[in-house]
Amino acid sequence: MSSSTPYKVLCVCLGNICRSPTAEVVLRHFCDEAQLNIHVDSAGTSNYHPGKAPDLRGQQHAKLRGYNLSALRARQLTVHDFIEFDLILAMDYENLDNIQNLMQKAQQQLGQLRAQVSLMSQHDHQYPQQEVPDPYYGGDAGFEHVLDQCESSSQAWVNYLKTQLQAQQKN
Ligand code: 4NP
Repeated sequence: MSSSTPYKVLCVCLGNICRSPTAEVVLRHFCDEAQLNIHVDSAGTSNYHPGKAPDLRGQQHAKLRGYNLSALRARQLTVHDFIEFDLILAMDYENLDNIQNLMQKAQQQLGQLRAQVSLMSQHDHQYPQQEVPDPYYGGDAGFEHVLDQCESSSQAWVNYLKTQLQAQQKN
């Protein structure tokens, strides 16, 4: 990685209005705090809410912790994301399955891909390989839990990527 080309991470859930926008802003916060040259975006496996702002409940809970989600707009994951991004992070196992299915299509259509796919909680010792539960049909506690998990898993990814990117720079 050179200073001019950021490592690119895409956070993915189902609707791109609750979990992945939260993950996007929280992960960006910890990457920026660690001064890592990482670009963060988000998308949904579904096309349920294209162009919509994040769920207001999620925005309000995030705001209480200092995160501003208001400018984000939902979009669907596309085959091109697999050549645009270095790392695609699934919030749950169903997302992971859907991402992997689309990845096969991307490979057939586009050949060599750039992205690796993993779970948001992959390196998180507090929530090891656990899903980020969908808060959409629940209450306040669900949105707080999404924030707790996104903060914990983002810090784990930052620690992991710091080491990885430093090793790449030496090579
Ligand atoms: P998300 O939550 O995947 O975290 O954005 C959901 C948002 C909308 C729906 C389901 C989950 N929905 O069925 O519309």
